[in-house]
Amino acid sequence: MASQLPSKILIIGATGTIGKYIANAIISAEPHVASQVTIFTSSATASSPNKQAILSGWKSQGASVITGDIGNADDVRRAYSSTDTVVSCLGRNALASQIELLRLAEESNDVKWFFPSEYGTDIEYDSSSKDEKPHQNKLRVREFIQDNVKRVKCTYVVTGPYPEMFLPLLPVAEKAGGYDPKSKRAVVVGSGDDKIGFTSMPDVGKLVVAALRHPEVSLGKALKVQSFVTTPNAIVEEFEKQTGAKWTVDHTPNQRLREAEKESWEHNSPIATLYTLKRIWAEGGTLYDKTDNEILGLKPEDMEPLSLVVEKAVSGKGY
Ligand SMILES: NC(=O)c1ccc[n+]([C@@H]2O[C@H](COP(=O)([O-])OP(=O)(O)OC[C@H]3O[C@@H](n4cnc5c(N)ncnc54)[C@H](OP(=O)(O)O)[C@@H]3O)[C@@H](O)[C@H]2O)c1
Repeated sequence: MASQLPSKILIIGATGTIGKYIANAIISAEPHVASQVTIFTSSATASSPNKQAILSGWKSQGASVITGDIGNADDVRRAYSSTDTVVSCLGRNALASQIELLRLAEESNDVKWFFPSEYGTDIEYDSSSKDEKPHQNKLRVREFIQDNVKRVKCTYVVTGPYPEMFLPLLPVAEKAGGYDPKSKRAVVVGSGDDKIGFTSMPDVGKLVVAALRHPEVSLGKALKVQSFVTTPNAIVEEFEKQTGAKWTVDHTPNQRLREAEKESWEHNSPIATLYTLKRIWAEGGTLYDKTDNEILGLKPEDMEPLSLVVEKAVSGKGY
């Protein structure tokens, strides 16, 4: 089976924040990663002027677009009828809906491989991971797969934080840390010397394509992948080098971050998830003795370096 996969890929959540990078990488892959790539999206997305342009670009590269509702079983069955591999990039609000999508995949005759939407922090990093609030929906999806999905093989792509989203200093959550090239000011969590593993957004797409090209190592696996490992202080140094100026650096002690996190959850603040993830990242939850990059055929020089990500941040390029 492994040698025939993937042939027909269905991408769900393709126009989302990371979905765009994953869909771009799959559709643009040379040589092609599959004979057919189809985007399954809602009619609202398909008719939104901003997203129409993205979808048209992909169509001009040979992808197909079908519309439907991920909550409608008939729409999903129709989408699955010509699909052997599903790549889900659904956003946090829609993660739980993947349980039904997986049930339908298992029931179908066609789907053989499913990438649930992960592309982030390792939700099974250590014994404390199971209690982290932001992990709960992804953990439920993995639990459903373990208990109920036997025929379809699943692959989780675990990337750690995207530096493009980690770097900005958000006025609403300064304590969570960040870097502001305009004011040349950084807020660093802890001492700033503890390492964090990152995957840039273009590299997430590259790594998903690599996983698709290597079913022999990817099927049924939680792949731990990364662009680079660095420290918050090394990021400050890179900004200083590229802006030619000394930056002001403030620190949030780890304990203060924990307090801000607790307060945010108590007030149902939308930034509570960010605080928790920043705490997990600051405390080493992205570090491995060895990643799976190499078994996917990717060398360190294939990945985007810190300098490029900082260059994009300095030039004000968004994601
Ligand atoms: N590592 C990191 O730093 C990091 C950062 C952000 C996200 N992530 C992870 O990446 C994954 C995708 O997140 P994202 O932020 O890219 O997602 P997103 O932009 O919020 O949404 C992605 C897509 O999901 C679909 N969608 C969203 N809400 C829906 C709903 N209620 N009903 C139906 N479809 C819905 C839409 O698909 P259409 O395109 O078809 O409209 C949307 O474009 C998640 O697992 C998230 O945890 C990781």
